[in-house]
Amino acid sequence: MQTQRSAGLAPARPSLPATPSSPSLPKHLTMRFTNASDTNNVVELFNSERKKSMDPNSKIRKRNQDELATSIETGSAVIALDEQEEIRFFGMASEHFSFGQDHPEAIIELGAIMSDIGGYGVAQLGSAMLALKEANRLRMEFPFLYTSGVHALVAKDNLPAQKVFTRDLGWSGISSDQDCSRLFRTQGKYTNNPDAQQSRLWLEFGHKASEKAANIVVGALSKQRLTSRRAPSSSIPIDLDHHVFKYI
Ligand SMILES: CC(C)(COP(=O)(O)OP(=O)(O)OC[C@H]1O[C@@H](n2cnc3c(N)ncnc32)[C@H](O)[C@@H]1OP(=O)(O)O)[C@@H](O)C(=O)NCCC(=O)NCCS
Repeated sequence: MQTQRSAGLAPARPSLPATPSSPSLPKHLTMRFTNASDTNNVVELFNSERKKSMDPNSKIRKRNQDELATSIETGSAVIALDEQEEIRFFGMASEHFSFGQDHPEAIIELGAIMSDIGGYGVAQLGSAMLALKEANRLRMEFPFLYTSGVHALVAKDNLPAQKVFTRDLGWSGISSDQDCSRLFRTQGKYTNNPDAQQSRLWLEFGHKASEKAANIVVGALSKQRLTSRRAPSSSIPIDLDHHVFKYI
């Protein structure tokens, strides 16, 4: 997929260091939907020391090459690369199907969201792009299937992820036990593990979240930079995949 470079944008001089987990503040980011050429880099990342530093508490479960490739090759993942082509954000979506009470069901689950650039809205933007694309795909590819839409499953003790999804992106928590059971059944990963179910929250990409996501993407497309929440004079120039226009 093509991205467009914005010419003549001087790299911003950071006035604050990046968060402690971040090796350095990028001078530039390219954020785009993935394609097959990204698979090896992402697989390497998942098996690297960098993954451990981006996800020190192992909140992201291991994924094998096939699982990663399925999402990456079909463009159901977003990657942000810095000026040295290092991955600084990754997030992917997986589709799940089950045969529900009397009809087949589908959900799309965003997962493996990770970034080592704190405070600039990188994780928020990448997740917004991916959720918008996947919600569109669910409507287009499975128009006749019963679907409860795009979701994310977040550990109850993962406050950074909850802040990103609920506070910043407007995703809503699923509180009904019946709905959670249905989502776990369709997802199929923790069906025989009540403790794993108890320790996780299902979040839904609903109408409010979809509006927020579109605003975040439009803002990034028009400004072509992401600004530090704490130091507004510090920003990172960013080129976004223009395919995202189709989903806002
Ligand atoms: C979850 C994640 C993608 C969020 O991205 P991020 O770049 O940290 O997002 P932000 O910088 O906007 O931080 C969001 C909030 O979490 C806080 N936060 C981030 N890292 C934190 C940490 N290690 N400890 C405590 N708070 C933290 C931030 O301070 C911010 O809160 P504030 O606005 O009240 O200050 C990122 O923290 C990450 O990669 N975590 C490891 C993998 C993971 O848990 N993925 C989610 C799986 S569902």
